[in-house]
Amino acid sequence: MLRLYESNILTMKKNINASHTPLYREAGFNLKDSKTTQEAFAEELDHPHEPENYIYSRYRNPTTVAIEQQIMELEGCKWALLVETGMAAIDVAVSVFQKGKDTRPWLFFHEIYGGTNSFIDTVLIKRRNLDVHRFYANDGLYDFEELERMLKEIQPEFLYFEAVSNPMLIVADVKRIMELAKQYDCKIIVDNTFGTPYLWKPLVDGADLVIHSATKYMSGHGNITAGVICGKDEELMKEAIEYRKWAGHFLSPDDAYRLGTQLKSFNLRFKQHCDNALALAEFLQNHPKIEEVLYPVGISPNPKRSCCPVWRQRLWWHGHLRHQRRIG
Ligand SMILES: Cc1ncc(COP(=O)(O)O)c(C=O)c1O
Repeated sequence: MLRLYESNILTMKKNINASHTPLYREAGFNLKDSKTTQEAFAEELDHPHEPENYIYSRYRNPTTVAIEQQIMELEGCKWALLVETGMAAIDVAVSVFQKGKDTRPWLFFHEIYGGTNSFIDTVLIKRRNLDVHRFYANDGLYDFEELERMLKEIQPEFLYFEAVSNPMLIVADVKRIMELAKQYDCKIIVDNTFGTPYLWKPLVDGADLVIHSATKYMSGHGNITAGVICGKDEELMKEAIEYRKWAGHFLSPDDAYRLGTQLKSFNLRFKQHCDNALALAEFLQNHPKIEEVLYPVGISPNPKRSCCPVWRQRLWWHGHLRHQRRIG
């Protein structure tokens, strides 16, 4: 993380020993002459993370690009695009696959953030009239035969899921889901807000796009809203850049700056979140007034949730827990 981050600072502020990314609040940038201007517009799509030739902050802003590079290091990917909220990141990610009358059906896990389900109902179905399907969990478990049946029958363009679902904390067997999707030529979008790159890097394991509500763990201080779309495929990410630019999704340089400073402590903060949640879960587990503690896979053996293969065992450890109080 440090290498890219530092090199970006050097590029932007030569000979100044700045320890933070400079904050560029410009809406538009001065381009030297008409030739530079022409080149800048021509190269805009080809070099979305190059530090030279900034045109207009809605397209790209140097502060924002520097923070995108920090996230690229965290997620282990070649592209990251910051936007103003997690919901905006979802909008950009799915809109990449909307191609007018050629749009294929889309498949979403139902066990995802409630706001995403509302986005599906009110934007994708009600307003855009898209052919969207839901895959439901059964009593906290995913039925892979049913998932395969749906993939075969619907032939969706993409499958969308959360590795650790919000709010029910269902830990998905991500490897199996991704293998199935690939088998049916289906792209994969992961909302990794709750998984976090600390526990899992979906793009390294074969996902096509990853989104985050950076409002949550990535920023961690509760004083900004932000979202990010991460990817490794240039064509997909160019579509995402195009949509972000013309739909007007953009994170302000001030919020990008703050996110950048907060990201520096992300790993330490998230580890502490997890340690705290585990300690709390253990305490509540033995409390007479607590009926059940859901700590992603369960701190005591929980047959419903203990199906996590060893390769992703880190996902059982998490910064969130739920509990159910005994009445009376
Ligand atoms: C898993 C998940 N995805 C997306 C979002 C939406 O993010 P935002 O509130 O930053 O728009 C949230 C918000 O709670 C979330 O929990």
